[in-house]
Amino acid sequence: MRRIIVILSLAAVATVFACRYLLPERFAVNAPIAHQMFGGKGAGTPEAEQIDVRMGVPEGFSVGLWATDVRGARGLRFTEAGDLLVTRPRVGEIVLLEADHDGDGRSDGQRVLMKGLNRPHGMDFHQGWLYVAETDGFGRVRFEPGDGTEAGQARLAGAYERLVENLPKGGNHWTRTIRVGPDQKVYVTVGSSCNVCLEDDPSRRAAMLRFELDGSGETPFASGLRNTVGFDWRPSTGEIYGTDNGRDLLGDDYPPCELNRIVEGGFYGWPFANGANRPDPDFGEGQAAHIETSIPPAHPFRAHNAPLGIAFVRGLGTLTADGDVAIVALHGSWNRRDKDGYKVVSLHFGPGDQIIERDFLTGFLEREDVIGRPVDVVQGPDGAIYVSDDYANVVWRVSLDALGPASPGLGASTPGDASDPLAGIEGETRARLVSEGEALYAGHACGSCHEAELADEGVVVKPLEGLGARYTLVELSSLLRTPPSPMPIPDLDAAERRAVAVYLLSR
Ligand code: HEC
Repeated sequence: MRRIIVILSLAAVATVFACRYLLPERFAVNAPIAHQMFGGKGAGTPEAEQIDVRMGVPEGFSVGLWATDVRGARGLRFTEAGDLLVTRPRVGEIVLLEADHDGDGRSDGQRVLMKGLNRPHGMDFHQGWLYVAETDGFGRVRFEPGDGTEAGQARLAGAYERLVENLPKGGNHWTRTIRVGPDQKVYVTVGSSCNVCLEDDPSRRAAMLRFELDGSGETPFASGLRNTVGFDWRPSTGEIYGTDNGRDLLGDDYPPCELNRIVEGGFYGWPFANGANRPDPDFGEGQAAHIETSIPPAHPFRAHNAPLGIAFVRGLGTLTADGDVAIVALHGSWNRRDKDGYKVVSLHFGPGDQIIERDFLTGFLEREDVIGRPVDVVQGPDGAIYVSDDYANVVWRVSLDALGPASPGLGASTPGDASDPLAGIEGETRARLVSEGEALYAGHACGSCHEAELADEGVVVKPLEGLGARYTLVELSSLLRTPPSPMPIPDLDAAERRAVAVYLLSR
């Protein structure tokens, strides 16, 4: 078997070099990789003028560079203090980009937080731990977020402990993504070792694995996922949605990349089927059983677009007014005649299974000229969307203009600036809603997570402060309908959600 794989991979490599002449209809190399792969500097920082002219965002949004000179920026995660951690896998580092305290719309500086890691890619926070996925395992370290002051700087509070040492490594897809789910389990994705092949261990490669918080109890969660670099929990349903990159060497427009709804025990087709259960021309023959049981994508992306990071977002005005919305980074094609992808899109979850894809941030690609490649997406504590870019070596920030150029949640706005979120609810009505809300807040044990004194042991405490600067009443009510993971969905009807929101905004 191994010999066959070696021969197949050699054949694939040969094809890559010979393809232009031998198989032009199946495969073409056209990637902006020259600088990147061969040790050069990538594309360099886009100029302000280029950004103005090229970059496109939806009506009511603005885009700018939040941090520059972050070489090979990949995974992103915000700390509780509003600093942004970024992985730089190729040099084994995690850097900390300081929050924008001076309000100029940019990070205040960067420093190395961890080094000597083995291709760190994904990260997540849970109960005071920073979890880090390396190419061959994962670990965690105690993390003190600090308060952003010189004296209260973020720091590691202990040694990094490798919890799992034996994730399959090597081969093509070396990034590992890690998230802690609302069920307090650790989810890790491991891409395939090849473009298309039979894996030695198909339950641990091209797969999603699940562990206990301490790394014990590994169980296969889902398989047939060629390379799921990003996944997140859909707020209103608690389901996992993940991106997946379709295989290469089948032409410019086939197969689609995928968004999958990832369920326990689910099989997603690779290497036997592509897209909506179409047999793979190389590995599909005689695999009817596998192909039939494979779960088709929830949404197809265009072939070779390479969807990576995904984040469900909230509080973005009309963009998020009609239901769940996920933002997805399309890293862009490298093997299609004309480049495609190279943008950030929003996915709008409609009634039934409907998902509509719209452009969110464009301009990375213009007439075959590339100035950036988006990788990971997170929503900041200020509500803005942050996107890492491993080609321009920057972090982009896309914000709703209504949120202001700086970061309200991060001390940039003066208190009292924001108009009263409870304007229009006066006198007795207000008093009644506040007391109803307070009772519901107590009855639903919100304080067991949000008040330090009441917190159950081991639960993340996040004080509910400064909400009025970040949410309108409508937004806060709707947040309670679809709270950010890992907060459980409270059992409240619309009127109750409104009362709780009024209470929270009145505090
Ligand atoms: C099991 C723990 C838990 C319980 C119970 C809980 N929450 Fe949360 N809540 C969280 C977590 C975790 C977050 C997300 C924190 C983050 O964004 O990192 C959150 C976020 C929030 C936010 C957004 C905060 C912000 O700064 O943007 C609000 C508002 C909120 N919760 C309100 C409530 C209310 C009201 C209740 C009771 C109905 C409640 N929560 C119950 C854990 C909990």
